[in-house]
Amino acid sequence: MENIKDMLKKIAAAKDTKALEEIRVAVLGKSGSLTAELKALGALPEAERKKKGAELNKVREEISVAIEAKYKTLAVAEINEKLKSSPLDITLSHVGCAEGCVHPISQVKDELLAIFGAMGFKYADGPDIEDDFHNFLALNFPLEHPARSTQDSFFIANTENLLRTQTSDVQIRAMEKSGAPIKIITMGRVYRRDMDATHTPTFHQIEGLYIGKGVTMAHLKGCLMDFLRTFFEVEDIPVRFRPHYFPFTEPSAEVDMRCSFANGELKIGPDGNRYMEMLGCGMVHPQVLKNVGINPDEYQGFAFGTGIERLAMLKYGVSDMRKMFEPDMRWLRSYGFRALDVPSVPAGLSRK
Ligand code: DAH
Repeated sequence: MENIKDMLKKIAAAKDTKALEEIRVAVLGKSGSLTAELKALGALPEAERKKKGAELNKVREEISVAIEAKYKTLAVAEINEKLKSSPLDITLSHVGCAEGCVHPISQVKDELLAIFGAMGFKYADGPDIEDDFHNFLALNFPLEHPARSTQDSFFIANTENLLRTQTSDVQIRAMEKSGAPIKIITMGRVYRRDMDATHTPTFHQIEGLYIGKGVTMAHLKGCLMDFLRTFFEVEDIPVRFRPHYFPFTEPSAEVDMRCSFANGELKIGPDGNRYMEMLGCGMVHPQVLKNVGINPDEYQGFAFGTGIERLAMLKYGVSDMRKMFEPDMRWLRSYGFRALDVPSVPAGLSRK
């Protein structure tokens, strides 16, 4: 190793950061001269090792400090040089750029992913253009079933396919693919022939499915109560499970939440003046399980579904659903979210 004075001289004389880096590597790098001496310490007798070790560490410290200080000076000089020769004038004021924001639907979707992800649901997906089997038949809507007419459908001309009317089709696809047990949610667009202040021809739904051994209505209730509490950030949500009919669940229920609106703001609580329908749900019909090859004597489970616009409108006070689908930046600026407010999605749960 050269003596320290010479090394310091060399450092002081380095003419650019590249030359300085070469010096650093030659002394302190993996096969640098100082590194080699430090490595050789092990072979010395103890008393000598201690003495030499302390000396070498002192040298290393001094060299490192000198290199760092020199680096700063050189780097600043190099940046200044670059700025002089480049046409970039960093003193110019920037051209304003419009800041976008997160649409309420995207915001709520991310909230839903975070909530159900924490409960152990995985994400599953399905196509927007669906066939009769997955949209209706496997879900226990036989051909002439009156329930089919409650969902006016958009059919694709000259085919048996249609734009899916509900995300329940993903239940079928997911069970066909993975069998039981299964615990999934999906979210996506659905399409129906409808248009007024609370209906649009396309909207979004979330669908959940949990099939396992010994899954009961009590689990369904616990899951949905937890969801409503977390989503609306209200500890004590008064709900009722009202018997209902869906072809793919038996028994079926709709979940209503006690609330009222004061000045367009949602107030959830026992002294509300009405019940608001929040979700559809039920225990998956044994026939639906059979349709995908799952034995209903071995596995049972629940499913639930609801509209995402509806959740967004209630939570964030949007009164006209049609606005959700209009490219109106003024509306979005008042109802949208800053990107930073979007909750983080748990690892392992991703949405396309
Ligand atoms: N598919 C239903 C609809 O579009 C919503 C729904 C109700 C989904 C009950 C479910 C359920 O999974 O169990 O209105």
